[in-house]
Amino acid sequence: MTVSEALSARRSIRAFKPDPIERDKLLKVLKDASMTPSWANSQPWEVFVAEGETLKRIREGYAACYKNAVQAAPEIPRPVEWTEAAKKRQMALYPDMLRDCGDAANQFGALNQRMFDAPCVIFICVDKILSTWSLYDIGAYAQSLMLSAAENGLGTIPAVTTVLYPEVLRKELHIPDNLKVVIGIAIGYADETNKINNFRSARSPVEEHVTFCS
Ligand SMILES: Cc1cc2nc3c(=O)[nH]c(=O)nc-3n(C[C@H](O)[C@H](O)[C@H](O)COP(=O)(O)O)c2cc1C
Repeated sequence: MTVSEALSARRSIRAFKPDPIERDKLLKVLKDASMTPSWANSQPWEVFVAEGETLKRIREGYAACYKNAVQAAPEIPRPVEWTEAAKKRQMALYPDMLRDCGDAANQFGALNQRMFDAPCVIFICVDKILSTWSLYDIGAYAQSLMLSAAENGLGTIPAVTTVLYPEVLRKELHIPDNLKVVIGIAIGYADETNKINNFRSARSPVEEHVTFCS
């Protein structure tokens, strides 16, 4: 698979089969991701892989938070403002999902709450003393990981809903206090029978965001 093919093949997967990921395959994906460039080779990513009983306890912890309407508290604050262009694209998301997935789109909220039933969620953290530049590096790391996963036949989704309750994650993953939880990436084999995975999100034409100056 070429990089270009991996970029086309990758899309967010919102329903996974329960099958665990082979450890050597997961290690290959994590090794590929570690090749990501970073400011002065600082490699700021600190990664916690949740599987099996640990992930089950995290899901139970989240279910209790949802049930008790606990205020979500992601450690990277949610955006306060969006540009008009971004708002327009966001508004298209759900209608496009309905177009591609029909009734299966209704599972969006429940699947998010269950971390998409993935057999594995990779949580990426960063030291609290680091700057926004390290978040840039973390984003690049996440994309490397997702592209390698695509090449290895694995589906992924980066989701803020996986990091809404960091206290649950801190307890189950023993995340030290100096780290901030950035994002979780659910990973596993896609459940192709669930039509929610039919969704293909749109992209604006290149002319909308690229300015050539010669
Ligand atoms: C930082 C970040 C957070 C996201 N959070 C969620 C989420 O909580 N739930 C969800 O269903 N999708 C989430 N997504 C997936 C985006 O909706 C998706 O990447 C976007 O619509 C483009 O679609 P694609 O990934 O299929 O190309 C997130 C993506 C990113 C990069």
